[in-house]
Amino acid sequence: MKERIDYLVDTLNKANHEYYILDNPTLTDQEYDSMMDELIKLEKKYPEFKREDSPTSRVGSTVTSEFEKYAHSFPMLSLGDVFNEDEIVSFDERIKKDGFHPIYMCEEKIDGLGINLIYKDGILVKGITRGDGRIGEDVTVNVKTIKSIPLKLTKKIDIELRGEIYIDKSELEKINNERKEKGLPIYQNCRNLASGSLRQLDSSITAKRNLKAFLYHLPNPIDYNLYTQSDVLDFFEELGLRVNPDKKVCKNINEVLAFIEAIKEKRESLPYDIDGMVLKVNDIRMQENIGYTAKNPKWAIAYKFPAEEVRTKLKDIVFTVGRTGKITPNAVLDPVRLCGTTVSRATLNNEDFIKDKDIRVGDTVIIRKAGDVIPEVVSVDLSRRDNTQKEFTMITNCPVCNTPLIRKENESHYFCPNDKCEARHIESLIHFASRNAMNIDGMGERIIEDFYNFGFIKDIASIYDLKTKKEELQELEGFGEKSINNLLTSIEKSKENSLERLLFGLGIRHFGKESAKIIARTFNNIDNIINAKFEELESIKDIGNTMAKSIYDYFKDEKNIELINNLKKHNVNMEYIGKKIEQDENFSNKKFVITGTISILPREKLKEEIILRGGITVDSVSKKTDVVIVGENPGSKYDKAKELGITIWDEDTLVKNLK
Ligand code: IVH
Repeated sequence: MKERIDYLVDTLNKANHEYYILDNPTLTDQEYDSMMDELIKLEKKYPEFKREDSPTSRVGSTVTSEFEKYAHSFPMLSLGDVFNEDEIVSFDERIKKDGFHPIYMCEEKIDGLGINLIYKDGILVKGITRGDGRIGEDVTVNVKTIKSIPLKLTKKIDIELRGEIYIDKSELEKINNERKEKGLPIYQNCRNLASGSLRQLDSSITAKRNLKAFLYHLPNPIDYNLYTQSDVLDFFEELGLRVNPDKKVCKNINEVLAFIEAIKEKRESLPYDIDGMVLKVNDIRMQENIGYTAKNPKWAIAYKFPAEEVRTKLKDIVFTVGRTGKITPNAVLDPVRLCGTTVSRATLNNEDFIKDKDIRVGDTVIIRKAGDVIPEVVSVDLSRRDNTQKEFTMITNCPVCNTPLIRKENESHYFCPNDKCEARHIESLIHFASRNAMNIDGMGERIIEDFYNFGFIKDIASIYDLKTKKEELQELEGFGEKSINNLLTSIEKSKENSLERLLFGLGIRHFGKESAKIIARTFNNIDNIINAKFEELESIKDIGNTMAKSIYDYFKDEKNIELINNLKKHNVNMEYIGKKIEQDENFSNKKFVITGTISILPREKLKEEIILRGGITVDSVSKKTDVVIVGENPGSKYDKAKELGITIWDEDTLVKNLK
């Protein structure tokens, strides 16, 4: 039986290599599936013959509670960024000034996440994320599900190498469409999706995500008698690893610039996202001589493309009413592809924005994504203007309830003052149920809209009455008994949320998730907040005057108190459940800065611990800083702290104080 298992493993791995790495399939899907089924059965029956490189590990069946930390044997460095041609040329000049005559390897900068692969005796044994470059997370089980990463190399060698895990643009679009349908938040870009997929605790989810990988870096090439980056990449191919074919050895910087231009031209049509180009000195010994800064190699740089921009026609300007009544103008566009997604809307921010840029319906506009999902209009292509466009005039009445809009002094937005405005209701319901608020699973935008329009819900409290309407809900198209049951269960579950979720969910103006947490922790229950004096609210660290006023006003409004009372009747929890702040003299009211790697607990947890003891965490060191906590490999904040004579805690002191 061992022979049969060996045969199946080898044949399937070979087929996999041909399909995913050489792009040249040799087995049909049926052949592959039936051999895989046979292998799964045989391995179950004869576990003693199961091989470490068995393709059955690609299915992903491990569920972990968290990933283990793993210290890289060679740090995973990042690259210094440059943003234009001049800076690329200066990079070359700097190297030449030191007497080197470099030839360059020019590669695409894949927009995914870095991965470190460790093979022992040719078998994949570890896949580690970059983490902070020194310590990453062991995501081996998930890496094994990625079909373009071989479980076994063609040579029985020990090797540690790096590359990028990414996901195709088409996959982002597909997954986002599915998520939109379900009312789930969408992934902003390919990188976030790849990273989210690789860091799934349930590896069967990763297996379904169609991640891919390109390998591009060997930290110790000379140990393998490799003396150029191009030899490294050839060697990778020989080992059966997937290497991006879009690369070029360039004899001089002009060739580099020309190659970058050529890739830019085809960027849009690439199946994956790239955010720039990487330029590396090809000769490894020259690399070593040029050397490193504290963070980056001096022999390589990343050239970052400017944010992608496309032209399209602005067909209309429509207005949406937010949950606070805020009116936002939006551009309705002829659909275009941008950064891997199809875009048909863009934000126009407010009246001033449109007037400053003189944006008119019928114009050809240039749009780009500014780190956000929603693209923005950058400018108008005036060369395409004929006399069919009409100058923009702001609406004067609410597009939903027709109430005259108001624009307060010093505000750039118009508001609909009618708090009975329907649009406001739907938006506020969506916000209430959303993930960061009450987190009601299955209650996405579309469902809320349907329920509202059919009259099943009218305000926040009525969400908790839905259970009395179960039969009618089941009649609705697209809602079976099972989905309604699931929804009602998550609605019931949301009643147990800690206070901060409810507070955030109420949609109080200027009030965010973090502030909700601070208020909930400080006051413990809603009645204490309702009864709080304005001065009490204002005196809370990180709350400030505007927010304090907004909370105070909110709870002075009788309608809002009625809503709270209604929710109380439905047994919605109004208490803070998490850990409470207990002032500790070592921390209380002191400002803390953290620098370097703290080994005893993750940075976010440490911040939480400080806050729970009444301390405040800030990002940069100044005279006002009380304590700087210094871990391993601290940054410049440590030097600054010494310079300013600020109290420094090393990890031992931190541990003592935490106790
Ligand atoms: S080389 C020491 N090559 O870009 C050199 N990096 O800061 C190590 N990346 O974190 C990196 N494509 O994850 C290299 N062809 C490529 C790359 C690439 C994408 C990522 C990598 C790294 C970041 C650079």
